[in-house]
Amino acid sequence: MYEKEDLLEVRKVSKTFRSGSAEVKAVDEASFRAQKGEVTVILGPSGSGKTTLLYLIGSLERPDAGEINVFGEDICRPDADLVSYRRKRVGFVFQTFNLIPSLTALENVTLPMDLDGVPAGEQRRRAEELLAGMGIEGRLLRARASRLSGGEKQRVAIARALANDPDLILADEPTGNLDSATGRVVVDILTGLAKREGKCVIIVTHDEGMLRAADWAYQMRDGQLRGIEI
Ligand SMILES: Nc1ncnc2c1ncn2[C@@H]1O[C@H](COP(=O)(O)OP(=O)(O)OP(=O)(O)O)[C@@H](O)[C@H]1O
Ligand SMILES: [Mg+2]
Repeated sequence: MYEKEDLLEVRKVSKTFRSGSAEVKAVDEASFRAQKGEVTVILGPSGSGKTTLLYLIGSLERPDAGEINVFGEDICRPDADLVSYRRKRVGFVFQTFNLIPSLTALENVTLPMDLDGVPAGEQRRRAEELLAGMGIEGRLLRARASRLSGGEKQRVAIARALANDPDLILADEPTGNLDSATGRVVVDILTGLAKREGKCVIIVTHDEGMLRAADWAYQMRDGQLRGIEI
């Protein structure tokens, strides 16, 4: 069993993009907390700042203001160890999968472990186990990612996000490119990660149907976040 504890605290985080004289306040003083074992769903229309917020939490972008604490450590501090954070603490499921198309399903999942210095035999054993958990087995292990269906790609992407056993899973529109039945399978996998493995799962989406998976939910509009009743 896992212990419930505050894993993520996002406090008054803002990010503005500037190009020439134009400014977009993509994230505007967003605050929320999330715990292990729970699914948080952030709903919002296109352009409301969902991907930007996830990138800030995953340290793929830096905020202009605010704090992001993961287990009490502020990842926005200039001396934060972001390489280790990105490799081991967070698993990112991207809006467009971002698999390496020329690599096989198996190789896409072993790659993050390879970067982390995990021995080859162990990489393979763990990748096969993670992929089996997502229903990717047999011939699919050796299929190039470019040949997989959308649902298969998404499941490989989730297995890859889990490769280094992170506490925090960030999923950007994880069902956006899937039909509704495949989407339900993916949502069940993500909720299972929270309920069975105690992961802290954050899902951003425009799909209100995802609220059924949520323990906590927020609405994002023009970069601002507010809690919603579910
Ligand atoms: N790198 C960037 N440079 C400039 N503007 C950006 C950049 N990234 C995002 N934006 C702008 O910030 C706003 C929020 O974008 P973001 O991608 O976070 O929205 P989103 O809610 O994820 O939308 P979608 O549902 O379409 O994926 C948009 O107006 C977008 O054009
Ligand atoms: Mg987006």
